[in-house]
Amino acid sequence: MTNSTPLPPRDKKRLYVRSWGCQMNVYDSGRMADVLAPLGYQPVDAPEDADMVILNTCHIREKATEKLFSELGRLRLMKQEREAGGAGMVLAVAGCVAQAEGAEIVARAPYVDIVLGPQSYHKLPEMVARAGRAAGAVVETEFPVEEKFDHLPDAAAPQGVTAFLTIQEGCDKFCAFCVVPYTRGAEYSRPAAAVLAEARRMAAQGTRELTLLGQNVNAYHGEGPDGSEWGLARLLYALAEIPGIERLRYTTSHPRDMDDALIAAHRDLPAVMPFLHLPVQSGSDRVLQAMNRGHTAADYLKLVQRLRAARPDLALSTDIIAGHPGETEADHQATMELIRQVGFAQAFSFKYSPRPGTPAAGAPFHMDEATKDRRLQEVQALLRDQQAAFNASKAGETVEVLFTGAGRHPGQLSGRTPWLQPVHVAANSSRIGEVAPVRILKGHPNSLLGELLHATPLDREMNAA
Ligand code: 5AD
Ligand code: SF4
Repeated sequence: MTNSTPLPPRDKKRLYVRSWGCQMNVYDSGRMADVLAPLGYQPVDAPEDADMVILNTCHIREKATEKLFSELGRLRLMKQEREAGGAGMVLAVAGCVAQAEGAEIVARAPYVDIVLGPQSYHKLPEMVARAGRAAGAVVETEFPVEEKFDHLPDAAAPQGVTAFLTIQEGCDKFCAFCVVPYTRGAEYSRPAAAVLAEARRMAAQGTRELTLLGQNVNAYHGEGPDGSEWGLARLLYALAEIPGIERLRYTTSHPRDMDDALIAAHRDLPAVMPFLHLPVQSGSDRVLQAMNRGHTAADYLKLVQRLRAARPDLALSTDIIAGHPGETEADHQATMELIRQVGFAQAFSFKYSPRPGTPAAGAPFHMDEATKDRRLQEVQALLRDQQAAFNASKAGETVEVLFTGAGRHPGQLSGRTPWLQPVHVAANSSRIGEVAPVRILKGHPNSLLGELLHATPLDREMNAA
Protein backbone atom coordinates (compact mmCIF):
# COMPACT_ATOMS: atom_id res chain seq x y z
CA MET A 1 0.00 0.00 0.00
CA THR A 2 1.46 3.35 -0.95
CA ASN A 3 -0.94 5.70 0.81
CA SER A 4 -1.84 4.24 4.16
CA THR A 5 -4.63 5.75 6.22
CA PRO A 6 -3.26 7.85 9.11
CA LEU A 7 -4.03 6.41 12.52
CA PRO A 8 -7.16 7.94 14.06
CA PRO A 9 -6.82 10.21 17.08
CA ARG A 10 -6.90 8.48 20.45
CA ASP A 11 -10.53 9.42 21.16
CA LYS A 12 -11.51 7.29 18.13
CA LYS A 13 -11.77 3.53 18.21
CA ARG A 14 -9.79 1.64 15.63
CA LEU A 15 -11.63 -0.65 13.24
CA TYR A 16 -9.83 -3.09 10.97
CA VAL A 17 -11.92 -4.83 8.29
CA ARG A 18 -10.36 -7.58 6.21
CA SER A 19 -12.31 -8.57 3.13
CA TRP A 20 -12.02 -11.69 1.04
CA GLY A 21 -13.74 -12.58 -2.19
CA CYS A 22 -16.02 -10.74 -4.52
CA GLN A 23 -16.70 -7.03 -5.07
CA MET A 24 -19.91 -7.51 -3.15
CA ASN A 25 -17.86 -8.24 -0.05
CA VAL A 26 -15.63 -5.22 -0.60
CA TYR A 27 -18.77 -3.11 -0.87
CA ASP A 28 -20.29 -4.69 2.25
CA SER A 29 -17.07 -4.02 4.19
CA GLY A 30 -17.45 -0.33 3.40
CA ARG A 31 -21.06 -0.36 4.61
CA MET A 32 -20.04 -2.08 7.87
CA ALA A 33 -17.46 0.64 8.48
CA ASP A 34 -20.18 3.22 7.76
CA VAL A 35 -22.66 1.81 10.31
CA LEU A 36 -19.93 1.69 12.95
CA ALA A 37 -18.70 5.25 12.35
CA PRO A 38 -21.38 6.83 14.61
CA LEU A 39 -20.07 4.60 17.44
CA GLY A 40 -16.67 6.26 17.06
CA TYR A 41 -14.98 3.57 14.97
CA GLN A 42 -12.53 4.72 12.33
CA PRO A 43 -10.93 2.36 9.78
CA VAL A 44 -7.25 1.46 10.10
CA ASP A 45 -4.98 -0.56 7.78
CA ALA A 46 -3.78 -3.30 10.15
CA PRO A 47 -5.28 -5.42 12.92
CA GLU A 48 -2.50 -4.67 15.43
CA ASP A 49 -3.87 -2.53 18.23
CA ALA A 50 -7.37 -2.43 16.71
CA ASP A 51 -10.36 -2.11 19.03
CA MET A 52 -12.45 -4.13 16.61
CA VAL A 53 -11.59 -6.55 13.82
CA ILE A 54 -14.09 -7.76 11.23
CA LEU A 55 -13.19 -10.64 8.94
CA ASN A 56 -15.54 -10.44 5.97
CA THR A 57 -15.39 -13.92 4.49
CA CYS A 58 -16.14 -15.50 1.12
CA HIS A 59 -17.28 -19.08 0.70
CA ILE A 60 -16.69 -19.42 -3.02
CA ARG A 61 -12.94 -19.65 -2.80
CA GLU A 62 -11.23 -22.90 -1.95
CA LYS A 63 -10.41 -23.71 1.66
CA ALA A 64 -12.27 -20.61 2.85
CA THR A 65 -13.05 -22.13 6.25
CA GLU A 66 -9.48 -23.25 6.94
CA LYS A 67 -8.13 -19.84 5.92
CA LEU A 68 -10.57 -18.20 8.31
CA PHE A 69 -9.54 -20.37 11.25
CA SER A 70 -5.85 -19.79 10.68
CA GLU A 71 -6.46 -16.01 10.57
CA LEU A 72 -8.56 -16.28 13.72
CA GLY A 73 -5.69 -18.10 15.43
CA ARG A 74 -3.40 -15.14 14.78
CA LEU A 75 -6.00 -12.63 15.95
CA ARG A 76 -6.62 -14.59 19.12
CA LEU A 77 -3.02 -13.90 20.18
CA MET A 78 -3.41 -10.18 19.45
CA LYS A 79 -6.64 -10.10 21.39
CA GLN A 80 -5.01 -11.84 24.37
CA GLU A 81 -2.13 -9.38 24.30
CA ARG A 82 -4.50 -6.43 24.32
CA GLU A 83 -6.53 -7.96 27.12
CA ALA A 84 -3.34 -8.46 29.16
CA GLY A 85 -2.75 -4.71 28.75
CA GLY A 86 -6.26 -3.92 29.99
CA ALA A 87 -7.76 -3.16 26.55
CA GLY A 88 -10.13 -5.28 24.51
CA MET A 89 -10.66 -6.36 20.93
CA VAL A 90 -14.10 -7.08 19.53
CA LEU A 91 -13.66 -9.88 17.03
CA ALA A 92 -16.37 -10.33 14.39
CA VAL A 93 -16.73 -12.81 11.54
CA ALA A 94 -19.02 -11.66 8.72
CA GLY A 95 -19.84 -12.80 5.19
CA CYS A 96 -20.77 -16.11 3.65
CA VAL A 97 -18.60 -18.37 5.80
CA ALA A 98 -20.19 -16.82 8.89
CA GLN A 99 -23.59 -17.49 7.36
CA ALA A 100 -22.82 -21.11 6.51
CA GLU A 101 -20.61 -22.13 9.41
CA GLY A 102 -21.79 -19.94 12.29
CA ALA A 103 -22.14 -22.85 14.71
CA GLU A 104 -18.71 -24.23 13.88
CA ILE A 105 -17.11 -20.82 14.38
CA VAL A 106 -18.72 -20.43 17.80
CA ALA A 107 -17.59 -23.95 18.77
CA ARG A 108 -14.04 -23.86 17.41
CA ALA A 109 -13.21 -20.22 18.12
CA PRO A 110 -15.09 -19.28 21.31
CA TYR A 111 -13.07 -16.04 21.55
CA VAL A 112 -15.03 -14.68 18.56
CA ASP A 113 -17.53 -12.09 19.83
CA ILE A 114 -19.83 -11.63 16.84
CA VAL A 115 -20.88 -13.87 13.96
CA LEU A 116 -23.06 -12.19 11.37
CA GLY A 117 -24.37 -13.18 7.97
CA PRO A 118 -24.55 -10.83 4.98
CA GLN A 119 -28.14 -9.85 5.76
CA SER A 120 -27.45 -8.58 9.26
CA TYR A 121 -24.88 -5.81 8.78
CA HIS A 122 -27.32 -3.08 9.74
CA LYS A 123 -27.55 -4.72 13.17
CA LEU A 124 -23.81 -4.39 13.85
CA PRO A 125 -24.00 -1.43 16.28
CA GLU A 126 -26.59 -3.24 18.36
CA MET A 127 -24.53 -6.44 18.21
CA VAL A 128 -21.38 -4.63 19.35
CA ALA A 129 -23.32 -3.34 22.35
CA ARG A 130 -24.71 -6.80 23.06
CA ALA A 131 -21.24 -8.37 22.71
CA GLY A 132 -20.03 -6.06 25.50
CA ARG A 133 -22.64 -7.59 27.82
CA ALA A 134 -22.88 -11.20 26.58
CA ALA A 135 -20.81 -14.11 27.80
CA GLY A 136 -20.63 -15.96 24.47
CA ALA A 137 -20.72 -14.90 20.84
CA VAL A 138 -23.62 -12.85 19.48
CA VAL A 139 -24.86 -14.60 16.35
CA GLU A 140 -27.10 -13.19 13.56
CA THR A 141 -27.42 -15.33 10.48
CA GLU A 142 -31.03 -14.85 9.43
CA PHE A 143 -32.15 -13.86 5.94
CA PRO A 144 -34.35 -10.73 6.23
CA VAL A 145 -32.68 -9.10 3.25
CA GLU A 146 -35.17 -6.27 2.70
CA GLU A 147 -34.53 -5.10 6.22
CA LYS A 148 -30.81 -4.88 5.56
CA PHE A 149 -31.22 -2.45 2.70
CA ASP A 150 -33.80 -0.41 4.60
CA HIS A 151 -31.47 0.09 7.53
CA LEU A 152 -28.02 0.46 6.04
CA PRO A 153 -26.94 4.05 5.57
CA ASP A 154 -26.07 5.05 2.04
CA ALA A 155 -22.38 5.05 1.29
CA ALA A 156 -21.00 7.75 3.59
CA ALA A 157 -17.53 8.27 2.20
CA PRO A 158 -17.28 9.05 -1.51
CA GLN A 159 -16.23 5.86 -3.25
CA GLY A 160 -14.23 7.48 -6.02
CA VAL A 161 -14.29 7.92 -9.77
CA THR A 162 -15.26 4.28 -10.20
CA ALA A 163 -17.68 2.85 -7.68
CA PHE A 164 -19.88 -0.14 -6.94
CA LEU A 165 -23.54 -0.13 -6.07
CA THR A 166 -25.32 -3.28 -4.91
CA ILE A 167 -28.74 -3.57 -6.51
CA GLN A 168 -29.51 -7.25 -6.01
CA GLU A 169 -28.49 -10.04 -3.68
CA GLY A 170 -28.91 -13.77 -3.47
CA CYS A 171 -29.61 -16.31 -6.17
CA ASP A 172 -32.34 -18.78 -7.05
CA LYS A 173 -30.44 -20.57 -9.80
CA PHE A 174 -28.96 -23.38 -7.70
CA CYS A 175 -26.04 -24.31 -9.94
CA ALA A 176 -24.99 -27.73 -8.66
CA PHE A 177 -21.47 -26.64 -7.63
CA CYS A 178 -22.36 -23.33 -5.99
CA VAL A 179 -22.93 -22.45 -2.38
CA VAL A 180 -24.30 -18.93 -2.98
CA PRO A 181 -28.05 -19.82 -2.91
CA TYR A 182 -27.48 -21.37 0.52
CA THR A 183 -25.30 -18.62 1.98
CA ARG A 184 -26.79 -15.50 0.38
CA GLY A 185 -30.35 -16.78 0.24
CA ALA A 186 -33.15 -16.12 -2.21
CA GLU A 187 -32.91 -13.53 -4.94
CA TYR A 188 -33.84 -10.03 -3.77
CA SER A 189 -33.82 -6.77 -5.75
CA ARG A 190 -33.64 -3.31 -4.21
CA PRO A 191 -36.38 -0.85 -5.20
CA ALA A 192 -35.32 1.23 -8.22
CA ALA A 193 -35.95 4.54 -6.42
CA ALA A 194 -33.42 3.64 -3.71
CA VAL A 195 -30.85 2.64 -6.33
CA LEU A 196 -31.39 5.83 -8.33
CA ALA A 197 -31.15 8.04 -5.24
CA GLU A 198 -27.88 6.42 -4.21
CA ALA A 199 -26.49 6.70 -7.74
CA ARG A 200 -27.37 10.41 -7.85
CA ARG A 201 -25.57 10.98 -4.58
CA MET A 202 -22.53 9.07 -5.82
CA ALA A 203 -22.47 11.07 -9.06
CA ALA A 204 -22.61 14.30 -7.04
CA GLN A 205 -19.62 13.06 -5.04
CA GLY A 206 -17.55 12.48 -8.17
CA THR A 207 -18.37 8.95 -9.34
CA ARG A 208 -18.19 8.72 -13.12
CA GLU A 209 -18.27 4.96 -13.67
CA LEU A 210 -20.83 2.93 -11.78
CA THR A 211 -20.76 -0.86 -11.57
CA LEU A 212 -24.03 -2.41 -10.45
CA LEU A 213 -23.47 -5.46 -8.31
CA GLY A 214 -25.43 -8.59 -7.60
CA GLN A 215 -24.78 -12.31 -7.40
CA ASN A 216 -27.20 -12.67 -10.27
CA VAL A 217 -27.48 -9.03 -11.25
CA ASN A 218 -29.37 -9.42 -14.52
CA ALA A 219 -32.17 -11.23 -12.68
CA TYR A 220 -32.86 -7.77 -11.18
CA HIS A 221 -36.60 -7.12 -10.86
CA GLY A 222 -36.94 -4.24 -8.43
CA GLU A 223 -40.06 -2.25 -7.69
CA GLY A 224 -40.16 0.80 -9.95
CA PRO A 225 -41.09 4.29 -8.71
CA ASP A 226 -44.46 3.82 -10.46
CA GLY A 227 -45.14 0.53 -8.65
CA SER A 228 -44.46 -1.61 -11.72
CA GLU A 229 -41.62 -4.10 -11.82
CA TRP A 230 -38.39 -2.86 -13.37
CA GLY A 231 -35.86 -5.16 -15.00
CA LEU A 232 -32.18 -4.35 -15.26
CA ALA A 233 -32.60 -2.79 -18.71
CA ARG A 234 -35.17 -0.28 -17.42
CA LEU A 235 -32.89 0.58 -14.52
CA LEU A 236 -29.93 1.14 -16.88
CA TYR A 237 -31.96 3.56 -19.03
CA ALA A 238 -32.84 5.55 -15.90
CA LEU A 239 -29.29 5.51 -14.52
CA ALA A 240 -27.89 6.67 -17.86
CA GLU A 241 -29.94 9.89 -17.42
CA ILE A 242 -28.11 10.90 -14.24
CA PRO A 243 -25.75 13.81 -14.92
CA GLY A 244 -22.17 12.81 -14.15
CA ILE A 245 -22.66 9.07 -14.63
CA GLU A 246 -20.74 8.54 -17.84
CA ARG A 247 -20.21 4.82 -17.70
CA LEU A 248 -22.31 1.90 -16.52
CA ARG A 249 -21.39 -1.73 -15.96
CA TYR A 250 -23.04 -4.61 -14.13
CA THR A 251 -21.83 -7.92 -12.79
CA THR A 252 -22.35 -10.92 -12.44
CA SER A 253 -24.85 -12.07 -15.02
CA HIS A 254 -26.43 -15.41 -15.84
CA PRO A 255 -26.88 -16.24 -19.53
CA ARG A 256 -30.50 -17.21 -18.95
CA ASP A 257 -31.40 -13.75 -17.65
CA MET A 258 -29.92 -11.88 -20.63
CA ASP A 259 -33.26 -10.79 -22.10
CA ASP A 260 -34.07 -8.82 -25.27
CA ALA A 261 -34.53 -5.57 -23.37
CA LEU A 262 -31.08 -5.87 -21.82
CA ILE A 263 -29.46 -6.65 -25.16
CA ALA A 264 -31.24 -3.59 -26.58
CA ALA A 265 -29.83 -1.48 -23.74
CA HIS A 266 -26.33 -2.45 -24.90
CA ARG A 267 -27.30 -1.22 -28.36
CA ASP A 268 -29.04 1.99 -27.29
CA LEU A 269 -27.07 3.31 -24.35
CA PRO A 270 -23.55 4.61 -25.05
CA ALA A 271 -23.01 4.74 -21.26
CA VAL A 272 -23.34 0.95 -21.00
CA MET A 273 -19.77 -0.14 -21.56
CA PRO A 274 -19.03 -2.69 -24.29
CA PHE A 275 -17.73 -5.26 -21.84
CA LEU A 276 -19.73 -8.01 -20.22
CA HIS A 277 -18.83 -10.63 -17.64
CA LEU A 278 -20.99 -13.60 -18.61
CA PRO A 279 -19.99 -16.85 -16.91
CA VAL A 280 -20.40 -19.97 -19.03
CA GLN A 281 -18.66 -22.44 -16.66
CA SER A 282 -18.32 -25.21 -19.29
CA GLY A 283 -18.60 -25.78 -23.02
CA SER A 284 -20.05 -29.28 -22.72
CA ASP A 285 -23.82 -29.77 -22.75
CA ARG A 286 -23.48 -32.85 -20.54
CA VAL A 287 -21.58 -30.91 -17.91
CA LEU A 288 -23.80 -27.83 -18.24
CA GLN A 289 -26.74 -30.08 -17.53
CA ALA A 290 -25.02 -31.71 -14.55
CA MET A 291 -24.29 -28.16 -13.33
CA ASN A 292 -27.99 -27.30 -13.63
CA ARG A 293 -27.09 -24.22 -15.66
CA GLY A 294 -30.26 -24.29 -17.76
CA HIS A 295 -28.51 -23.52 -21.05
CA THR A 296 -26.46 -25.33 -23.66
CA ALA A 297 -23.18 -24.35 -25.30
CA ALA A 298 -25.12 -23.42 -28.45
CA ASP A 299 -27.48 -21.20 -26.41
CA TYR A 300 -24.46 -19.35 -25.06
CA LEU A 301 -22.86 -18.93 -28.50
CA LYS A 302 -26.15 -17.67 -29.91
CA LEU A 303 -26.45 -15.18 -27.08
CA VAL A 304 -22.92 -13.92 -27.72
CA GLN A 305 -23.85 -13.48 -31.37
CA ARG A 306 -26.94 -11.44 -30.49
CA LEU A 307 -24.97 -9.28 -28.07
CA ARG A 308 -22.29 -8.62 -30.65
CA ALA A 309 -24.90 -7.81 -33.26
CA ALA A 310 -26.32 -5.22 -30.83
CA ARG A 311 -22.92 -3.83 -29.85
CA PRO A 312 -20.21 -4.87 -32.33
CA ASP A 313 -17.29 -3.80 -30.13
CA LEU A 314 -18.54 -5.83 -27.16
CA ALA A 315 -15.82 -7.83 -25.39
CA LEU A 316 -16.62 -10.71 -23.10
CA SER A 317 -15.27 -12.08 -19.89
CA THR A 318 -16.31 -15.38 -18.32
CA ASP A 319 -15.90 -17.93 -15.52
CA ILE A 320 -14.83 -21.49 -16.26
CA ILE A 321 -14.74 -24.46 -13.90
CA ALA A 322 -12.26 -27.22 -14.78
CA GLY A 323 -12.90 -30.75 -13.57
CA HIS A 324 -16.54 -30.61 -12.50
CA PRO A 325 -17.69 -34.05 -11.28
CA GLY A 326 -18.32 -36.28 -14.30
CA GLU A 327 -16.31 -34.13 -16.74
CA THR A 328 -14.67 -36.38 -19.36
CA GLU A 329 -11.76 -35.51 -21.62
CA ALA A 330 -14.26 -34.89 -24.43
CA ASP A 331 -16.20 -32.50 -22.19
CA HIS A 332 -12.99 -30.64 -21.38
CA GLN A 333 -12.20 -30.38 -25.10
CA ALA A 334 -15.71 -28.99 -25.69
CA THR A 335 -14.91 -26.25 -23.15
CA MET A 336 -11.64 -25.48 -24.96
CA GLU A 337 -13.57 -25.29 -28.22
CA LEU A 338 -16.19 -22.94 -26.83
CA ILE A 339 -13.44 -20.66 -25.51
CA ARG A 340 -11.84 -20.64 -28.97
CA GLN A 341 -15.16 -19.84 -30.62
CA VAL A 342 -16.00 -16.92 -28.35
CA GLY A 343 -12.54 -15.40 -27.85
CA PHE A 344 -12.62 -13.88 -24.38
CA ALA A 345 -10.99 -10.59 -23.47
CA GLN A 346 -10.61 -11.66 -19.87
CA ALA A 347 -11.66 -14.61 -17.72
CA PHE A 348 -11.57 -16.27 -14.33
CA SER A 349 -11.04 -20.01 -14.19
CA PHE A 350 -11.23 -22.33 -11.25
CA LYS A 351 -10.48 -25.91 -10.42
CA TYR A 352 -13.67 -27.56 -9.22
CA SER A 353 -13.66 -27.98 -5.48
CA PRO A 354 -16.59 -29.41 -3.54
CA ARG A 355 -18.67 -27.11 -1.34
CA PRO A 356 -20.32 -29.10 1.43
CA GLY A 357 -24.09 -29.25 1.08
CA THR A 358 -24.18 -28.59 -2.67
CA PRO A 359 -25.50 -31.30 -5.04
CA ALA A 360 -22.21 -31.58 -6.97
CA ALA A 361 -20.29 -32.27 -3.78
CA GLY A 362 -22.36 -35.44 -3.28
CA ALA A 363 -22.18 -36.54 -6.94
CA PRO A 364 -20.29 -39.66 -8.03
CA PHE A 365 -17.26 -39.47 -10.35
CA HIS A 366 -15.08 -36.83 -8.81
CA MET A 367 -11.92 -36.14 -10.80
CA ASP A 368 -8.49 -36.82 -9.43
CA GLU A 369 -6.54 -33.66 -8.57
CA ALA A 370 -3.85 -34.18 -11.23
CA THR A 371 -6.44 -34.31 -14.03
CA LYS A 372 -8.23 -31.25 -12.69
CA ASP A 373 -4.89 -29.40 -12.45
CA ARG A 374 -3.90 -30.29 -15.99
CA ARG A 375 -7.26 -29.27 -17.44
CA LEU A 376 -7.22 -26.00 -15.51
CA GLN A 377 -3.74 -25.24 -16.83
CA GLU A 378 -4.87 -25.87 -20.41
CA VAL A 379 -7.90 -23.63 -19.95
CA GLN A 380 -5.81 -20.91 -18.34
CA ALA A 381 -3.10 -20.98 -21.01
CA LEU A 382 -5.73 -20.51 -23.71
CA LEU A 383 -7.51 -17.74 -21.82
CA ARG A 384 -4.20 -15.98 -21.11
CA ASP A 385 -3.33 -16.04 -24.81
CA GLN A 386 -6.74 -14.64 -25.68
CA GLN A 387 -6.40 -11.82 -23.15
CA ALA A 388 -2.91 -10.95 -24.40
CA ALA A 389 -4.16 -10.99 -28.01
CA PHE A 390 -7.11 -8.76 -27.11
CA ASN A 391 -4.84 -6.26 -25.35
CA ALA A 392 -2.33 -6.33 -28.21
CA SER A 393 -5.14 -5.72 -30.71
CA LYS A 394 -5.74 -2.30 -29.18
CA ALA A 395 -2.25 -1.03 -30.08
CA GLY A 396 -2.57 1.79 -32.62
CA GLU A 397 -6.22 2.44 -31.75
CA THR A 398 -7.55 5.57 -30.09
CA VAL A 399 -9.81 4.74 -27.18
CA GLU A 400 -11.74 6.73 -24.56
CA VAL A 401 -10.00 6.41 -21.19
CA LEU A 402 -11.50 7.31 -17.83
CA PHE A 403 -8.69 8.52 -15.56
CA THR A 404 -9.04 7.00 -12.11
CA GLY A 405 -5.88 7.79 -10.14
CA ALA A 406 -2.11 7.95 -9.95
CA GLY A 407 -0.21 5.68 -12.33
CA ARG A 408 2.71 3.37 -11.78
CA HIS A 409 5.36 6.01 -12.44
CA PRO A 410 5.59 9.69 -11.48
CA GLY A 411 3.83 11.85 -14.04
CA GLN A 412 1.56 8.99 -15.05
CA LEU A 413 -2.11 8.46 -14.41
CA SER A 414 -3.90 5.18 -14.60
CA GLY A 415 -7.24 4.80 -16.22
CA ARG A 416 -9.65 2.33 -17.74
CA THR A 417 -10.65 1.66 -21.27
CA PRO A 418 -14.30 0.85 -22.06
CA TRP A 419 -13.21 -2.83 -21.96
CA LEU A 420 -11.98 -2.58 -18.37
CA GLN A 421 -8.32 -2.72 -19.35
CA PRO A 422 -6.02 -0.77 -17.04
CA VAL A 423 -4.07 1.82 -19.04
CA HIS A 424 -1.11 3.96 -18.03
CA VAL A 425 -0.78 7.41 -19.58
CA ALA A 426 1.45 10.45 -18.96
CA ALA A 427 -1.10 13.05 -17.86
CA ASN A 428 -1.73 15.79 -15.35
CA SER A 429 -3.47 14.69 -12.15
CA SER A 430 -6.24 17.26 -12.68
CA ARG A 431 -7.54 14.83 -15.31
CA ILE A 432 -8.62 12.31 -12.67
CA GLY A 433 -12.34 11.80 -13.21
CA GLU A 434 -12.13 12.89 -16.85
CA VAL A 435 -12.70 10.79 -19.97
CA ALA A 436 -10.24 11.62 -22.76
CA PRO A 437 -9.11 10.02 -26.02
CA VAL A 438 -5.86 8.07 -25.70
CA ARG A 439 -3.78 6.48 -28.42
CA ILE A 440 -2.70 3.00 -27.35
CA LEU A 441 1.02 2.49 -27.86
CA LYS A 442 1.33 -1.04 -26.57
CA GLY A 443 -0.82 -3.85 -25.23
CA HIS A 444 0.78 -5.83 -22.39
CA PRO A 445 -0.77 -9.08 -21.11
CA ASN A 446 -2.48 -7.31 -18.18
CA SER A 447 -2.50 -3.62 -19.07
CA LEU A 448 -2.02 -1.05 -21.83
CA LEU A 449 0.35 1.85 -22.35
CA GLY A 450 -1.05 4.94 -24.06
CA GLU A 451 -0.55 8.63 -24.79
CA LEU A 452 -3.07 11.43 -24.69
CA LEU A 453 -4.34 12.42 -28.11
CA HIS A 454 -4.59 16.06 -27.04
CA ALA A 455 -1.92 16.53 -24.41
CA THR A 456 -1.63 20.03 -22.92
CA PRO A 457 1.71 21.60 -21.90
CA LEU A 458 0.81 20.63 -18.32
CA ASP A 459 0.41 16.96 -19.29
CA ARG A 460 3.75 17.09 -21.10
CA GLU A 461 5.42 18.72 -18.12
CA MET A 462 4.24 15.77 -16.06
CA ASN A 463 5.63 13.50 -18.70
CA ALA A 464 9.05 15.11 -18.45
CA ALA A 465 9.01 14.92 -14.63
N1 5AD B 1 -15.60 -24.95 -7.45
C1 5AD B 1 -14.93 -24.19 -8.34
N2 5AD B 1 -15.36 -22.99 -8.76
C2 5AD B 1 -16.52 -22.54 -8.27
N3 5AD B 1 -17.19 -21.39 -8.49
C3 5AD B 1 -18.32 -21.39 -7.73
N4 5AD B 1 -18.38 -22.53 -7.02
C4 5AD B 1 -17.28 -23.27 -7.34
C5 5AD B 1 -16.78 -24.54 -6.94
N5 5AD B 1 -17.45 -25.31 -6.08
C6 5AD B 1 -16.77 -20.37 -9.47
C7 5AD B 1 -17.81 -20.24 -10.60
C8 5AD B 1 -18.45 -18.91 -10.31
C9 5AD B 1 -17.30 -18.16 -9.69
C10 5AD B 1 -17.66 -16.93 -8.92
O1 5AD B 1 -16.69 -19.10 -8.82
O2 5AD B 1 -17.12 -20.22 -11.84
O3 5AD B 1 -18.97 -18.28 -11.48
FE1 SF4 C 1 -23.98 -19.63 -7.97
FE2 SF4 C 1 -24.01 -17.88 -10.00
FE3 SF4 C 1 -25.15 -20.31 -10.26
FE4 SF4 C 1 -26.28 -18.44 -8.67
S1 SF4 C 1 -26.02 -18.33 -10.92
S2 SF4 C 1 -26.00 -20.62 -8.19
S3 SF4 C 1 -24.47 -17.44 -7.82
S4 SF4 C 1 -22.96 -19.85 -9.97
